[in-house]
Amino acid sequence: MLNYFDERGSLLLVMNVLLAALLAQAVRGCADITVTETVWVTATNVASGVSSLASTSSSLVVVPTSTPPLPVTSSLSTTTVLPTSQTGGPGPSATYNPLPLPAIAKTASPHNFNALVNREGLTVIHNSCNYTLFLTVNPPQCGGIVHGHEIAAGETYTEPIRSCPDDSGISLQITSKVHTKPILVEYSERNGISYDLSFIDCLEKTTTNMSGCAGWDEGHQCGSASGCPVFACQPGEYCDRTSYTIPEYGLTEANKDERNPVPAPVGWCKANSGIVWEICAGSQMAMARKYSG
Ligand SMILES: *[C@@H]1O[C@H](CO)[C@@H](O)[C@H](O)[C@H]1NC(C)=O
Ligand SMILES: *[C@@H]1O[C@H](CO)[C@@H](O)[C@H](O)[C@H]1NC(C)=O
Repeated sequence: MLNYFDERGSLLLVMNVLLAALLAQAVRGCADITVTETVWVTATNVASGVSSLASTSSSLVVVPTSTPPLPVTSSLSTTTVLPTSQTGGPGPSATYNPLPLPAIAKTASPHNFNALVNREGLTVIHNSCNYTLFLTVNPPQCGGIVHGHEIAAGETYTEPIRSCPDDSGISLQITSKVHTKPILVEYSERNGISYDLSFIDCLEKTTTNMSGCAGWDEGHQCGSASGCPVFACQPGEYCDRTSYTIPEYGLTEANKDERNPVPAPVGWCKANSGIVWEICAGSQMAMARKYSG
C-alpha cells in the first residue's frame, strides 16, 4: 500500500512540510486584503536532502492490543456490514495515537463509496448529506471571497482551482448548522496539485471524537484525477492515517529526525487535475446518485 509513497515519498514529505507552513498562512486568512492577481511560482527542487523512508517507521509501529468482538447477526437474511477501516478491510477505527502510523494512500474510492470523478482545473464539492453545508474558502485574496456559501443537500458546488500570490495553500472549509467548526480540504497547485483532508479544527483534541465534524458520521472522501490518491474516512471512523487528525502529523521540532520520514496523508496529482471532495460519501443519498463528472 505504501508503494506510492516509496516512489515519491521524498517529494511528498517535503511537500508536506511546505504545505504545513503554507497552509498555516492560508488558514489565518485576511478578510481585509483585496483580491490580488494570481502568480505562478516555479517549484524549486524540493527532493534533495531527505533521508530514507524505511529507516525509522518500524520503531513507530503500534500493534492494537485488543479488537472489539464482531457483532453477531441473528438471522442469515440479516447482514451486518461493518464499516471498513483505513486499510479498506473490515475492522475497528483506530485508537488515539499522537504519532499516527505511515499514511495510507489508496488510489481509488473505497468499494462502499462512489468513484470520484475529477474535473480539470476545478474544485468539485458534492454534498451527499441530507442537510445544508456551508463553504468558506481561505485565504480570500486567492481568487475571491467565499464565506458561508450554502451547498444544499444533494447539490454539487464547483469553482476554479485557486492559487495565491505568495504561493501559499488554499483551505476549503465546510461547516453545517450543527457542526460549527470546519472540516478542511487543503490544497496547493504548483506544477501539480497537492491536497489533504483535515479534521484538526473540528475534532475534540487528543481524542477520537470527531462528531463535531460535518458529515463525519456518514463518511468523507477527497481525491483528484484517476490514479491519484483518494483519502477516505468511513462513516464514524477515526481515520488518522488517511487524514490529518494530529497537527503536522505528529511532527515536532524535538522529534523531527524520526518523524520526518513518516509519510503523511498528502496527495499529489498532475497539474490541472482539480480536487473533488464528497461529504457524507457513505450516505443513502450518495448511494442513490451517480456522478456524471
Ligand atoms: C438524514 O439522514 C440521517 C442518517 O441517515 C437520518 O437519520 C435522518 O432522518 C435524515 N433526515 C432527513 C431530514 O431526511
Ligand atoms: C464529542 O464531541 C462533541 C462536540 O464536538 C460533544 O458534544 C460530545 O459530547 C462528545 N462526545 C463524547 C462521547 O465525548
